[in-house]
Amino acid sequence: MAMVPKDAQVLTDALHDGVLRLTLNRPEKLNALDQAMVDALHAAMDYYAGNPDVRVLVLAGAGDKAFAAGADIAQLRDRRAADALRAINAGLFERIAAFPCPTVAAVRGFALGGGCELALACDLRVCGLSAKFGQPETGLGIMAAAGATWRLAALIGLGRARELLYTGRLVDAQEAHAIGLANQVVPDEELDAAVSEMAGLIARNDPLATRLTKQAIRLVQGPEEHYRQFASAAQAVCFESPEKVKRMDAFLERKKRRA
Ligand code: COA
Repeated sequence: MAMVPKDAQVLTDALHDGVLRLTLNRPEKLNALDQAMVDALHAAMDYYAGNPDVRVLVLAGAGDKAFAAGADIAQLRDRRAADALRAINAGLFERIAAFPCPTVAAVRGFALGGGCELALACDLRVCGLSAKFGQPETGLGIMAAAGATWRLAALIGLGRARELLYTGRLVDAQEAHAIGLANQVVPDEELDAAVSEMAGLIARNDPLATRLTKQAIRLVQGPEEHYRQFASAAQAVCFESPEKVKRMDAFLERKKRRA
């Protein structure tokens, strides 16, 4: 069996009544997904995907400012075409989407870029009123290649998905609920209780029937492999463009100047 993941980048709560909670733990960088966090999430998937006692997986972000503010821009800036073709985030998010039992994203604050795509890879999104979703990738000279171009459209419809992907504008919790991006919205201080209640409702049902229901829904969504392959190839083109470096440098410089 794989090693129990013990990584500071992702905190694991003890399994409680069939509910496993993983917390992205890099609050000082708004839980931006760097390679270490991606590796830690893979380790958690290796360890828990085969555990029949897990009935619901909850993903949350540490701190009150963010679920995850995207892939780590300092690392993204230096990624090249070969990295895009490795589908670093898309591959991880697909494993999360394929996790055998239902998954719930508990979203407080920013869920941007890869952070939004991670929430989209979960079966359900329960949000605090502070939640803000968005896909700002094109402003940084890249595309949302880790699921938004297919999962967002499947969830909120093509018209709205196009608008959010082209404009990069942020969607607050109430709008997210109105358009079907969020399943439930509660005041931030009630988020953990709301997520536990939702997870509890799922966990009390028959696990085999629940797992098969999840697989049946995934079949309706259709094979996603060809979307992923196209998105990785398109991202490979973006990752070689000078505009991407210019735009990411501008973000990193702004932060450096302010420090
Ligand atoms: N990658 C790397 N670092 C990030 C990050 C990301 N995606 N998002 C936030 N951070 C870092 C900031 O650089 C800052 O670090 P510093 O204190 O060492 O400078 C820290 O997290 C806190 O963020 P800050 O920008 O100071 O918070 P804010 O409240 O002023 O702004 C955001 C919040 C989310 C609007 C802003 O951080 C942002 O625009 N982040 C990038 C979002 C994005 O484009 N994501 C998609 C990437 S594809």
